[in-house]
Amino acid sequence: MIDPHKTTVTIIGTGYVGLTTAVLFAQAGFKTYALDIDEGRLDSIRSGKSFFYEEGLDPLINESVNNGSLIPTNSYGVCIPESQFVFSCVGTPDKPDGSTNLDFIFQAAMSALDNMNAESVYVQKSTVPVGTGRKIEKLFLDAKKTIRYVSNPEFLREGSALGDSLYGDRMVFGGDNKEAVKAVRQLYEVTLGKRSEIMSLARLSVINDVETRYIETSLESAELIKVTANAFLALKISFANSIAKLADQTNADILEVMDAVGADKRIGGAFLNAGRGYGGGCFPKDVSGLISSAAKHGVDLAIMTAVSDVNASMPKYIANKLLHEFGSLGHKKIAVLGLSFKTGTSDARRSPGVALANILAHEGGLVKVFDPQANEEAASDLRREILLTDSIDEAIKGCDAVCIATDWNEFKEYNLETYAQLTRKCVFVDCMNVFDAKKVRSTGMKYIGVGRR
Ligand code: UGA
Repeated sequence: MIDPHKTTVTIIGTGYVGLTTAVLFAQAGFKTYALDIDEGRLDSIRSGKSFFYEEGLDPLINESVNNGSLIPTNSYGVCIPESQFVFSCVGTPDKPDGSTNLDFIFQAAMSALDNMNAESVYVQKSTVPVGTGRKIEKLFLDAKKTIRYVSNPEFLREGSALGDSLYGDRMVFGGDNKEAVKAVRQLYEVTLGKRSEIMSLARLSVINDVETRYIETSLESAELIKVTANAFLALKISFANSIAKLADQTNADILEVMDAVGADKRIGGAFLNAGRGYGGGCFPKDVSGLISSAAKHGVDLAIMTAVSDVNASMPKYIANKLLHEFGSLGHKKIAVLGLSFKTGTSDARRSPGVALANILAHEGGLVKVFDPQANEEAASDLRREILLTDSIDEAIKGCDAVCIATDWNEFKEYNLETYAQLTRKCVFVDCMNVFDAKKVRSTGMKYIGVGRR
């Protein structure tokens, strides 16, 4: 087994995936460099903090930086030459045409290449289209370097990054060099061996009885597994949303429908929650990236185009419910609570809550918004006339409608009577179907869900 005290790892890119991975390796005892060109991010890590909100991460960063196992740096020349493992965790944003922008991927590989020694393993954790790994291998070969390449896609979710990393259902390792694949796998076996201690230090609940499956595949399979998994989850959500629209027309209740449908183990109940659709830095771009990469290989993934279209329709579908209710949104006061793309994160990228707020404002509504974590990150995506507020009370006061767009506990646990009092019995739009409709109605408010009877 690999010896953490004789092993150095560099993680290129300190976003969600990179910083979480770096901290976990550092906690397992590996000397771990967190490499980034963004000085703001590095300063934040140096001060023992993450630049984004993720439960449990800060205590781990703080401890690892203090004990010297996690070293933030901006210099490839400092960290790469002494690293046996170099992980690429840089961003893969989408281009305007939906295809994946691989500029950072190739820049990172090129910069690492100059400083890597022949025995090192280059590990790709960023989500890349199938075929990318071969291109990087060729780049290394052309430079006459025998660096071994392994694809090790990430399956963590924002908001539960540590738990997902340490207790995931599976880990995937793809590559031609079986020794390199085995070595990368061992990094994780050592790290997961310490998962209870790490969770305790992060002040998160230790999970028992989870067996993580280690899956070794070809390079191309590993690349395709990652995007396929995300695409399938997105498909489940859009499927549930399509059926929710039918439920709305037929007096069926989507919660009852999907509860029973998901009870079939062949289908499974996860990711069948209908609502305002998916957002974030992964599903939207991974779906469009998959469509575009398939098209380059002559394959028409019409099913994923439909998934993307259904998803894009959801914020407007919800706004239309209010239009139907009021006739016009002109001068209607509407609060949108929830700007992060989901609970537990400050990330507001492609946020359905932001999309909904913008549509309501565009339709003439006087829109106020609030999020417990994402106000700052959402601000630049909101239309200028939308008012950002600092509390639920401030956002909802005097409103004709309140839309709950993210299922933060703050919103779910807020007293329903107070929602009703401060709004003089508004229309209550449960964009994620997380409230008990009867209880909402009992306060005198009108309840609107997505596919709810
Ligand atoms: C997703 C995947 O779940 C991770 O496995 C993957 O590693 C990650 O992308 C990635 O590629 O990096 P994430 O985007 O953090 O993780 O968030 P999810 O929890 O999957 O939620 C995505 C969106 O779907 C959210 O907007 C959420 O509110 C929405 N959603 C989820 C629904 O609308 N309905 C559901 O039933 C479930």
